[in-house]
Amino acid sequence: MALPKILIARAVFPEVIARLEQHFEVESNQADTIWSQAELTARLQGKDGAFTTTGERIDAQVLAACPQLKICANMAVGYNNFDVAAMTVAGVLATNAPDVLTETTADFGFALLMATARRITESEHFLRAGKWTKWRYDLFAGSDIHGATLGILGMGRIGQGIARRGAFGFGMKVIYHNRSRLDATLEAECKAAYVSKEELLATADHLVLVLPYSPTSHHAIGAAELALMKPTATLVNIARGGIVDDAALAAALRDQTIAAAGLDVFEGEPAIHPDLLALDNVVLTPHIASASLPTRLAMANLAADNLIAFFTGQPPLTPLNAAVLASRYSS
Ligand code: GLV
Repeated sequence: MALPKILIARAVFPEVIARLEQHFEVESNQADTIWSQAELTARLQGKDGAFTTTGERIDAQVLAACPQLKICANMAVGYNNFDVAAMTVAGVLATNAPDVLTETTADFGFALLMATARRITESEHFLRAGKWTKWRYDLFAGSDIHGATLGILGMGRIGQGIARRGAFGFGMKVIYHNRSRLDATLEAECKAAYVSKEELLATADHLVLVLPYSPTSHHAIGAAELALMKPTATLVNIARGGIVDDAALAAALRDQTIAAAGLDVFEGEPAIHPDLLALDNVVLTPHIASASLPTRLAMANLAADNLIAFFTGQPPLTPLNAAVLASRYSS
């Protein structure tokens, strides 16, 4: 019997490709070429499944042009590259890669917060440039982490991991805002108190963004929100580009209406707003929050597991539109 055909849209671990080749006829992209939507659509012709990452947009247009497609497995927890509603209408299953990256990503959120508040990269650039000639009482003096108020916007699993690190590792007071409040047990486990978004912005010494991107979270942090923050505050974004208005953030950092920012994600990445690049009080990293080798491998294997399960008649592990499965199995 002919094997189902899948497209792996970006370069991925060779051992994961080898696993997939045991089950599928695979077209892969180990050259890691960034395809246009037209190229992606052309490559998807005749494919039953797709292994995608954060950059491949699966929308109504792609779906209409690829009627054979049955599943897209994203190697990412975020899935704003998928139009899940359109996929459901088209009967295409969407899966993402949650859980396996939670602790690694929370580690990175904390690392970025510490690098930003304690001015680590800025001071290293100074040292490497040969500018360090003497010790000085206020040289790269930043703000404290321990005992400070940690604000978290978006209190899913990664937000909770950051809250636990702050509360139990650094004795921070943790406050959060989320679409829905956590139950009392989870709040106690994270030692986190629910507050309004306005109170979060006005009270946090350090604010970490971990909410999913959607049209409603577009520019959730813009000029008005930045104006509510303390002039000594640190902002960290490990969520998605577009949640922060990068131009407004660059203006706030330049005018020092907030002290510093740590950014792992950007509007229109990999392009970076030029005003951000011109500033010293921002730490910039290239979308690597989940990038420990074991975690990236686990994410790739989870995407592969979803594809394998789907085509061997098993329930996929992490479906986003399980309604598609219900109609598949009832028909
Ligand atoms: C990475 O950004 C992810 O969503 O997993």
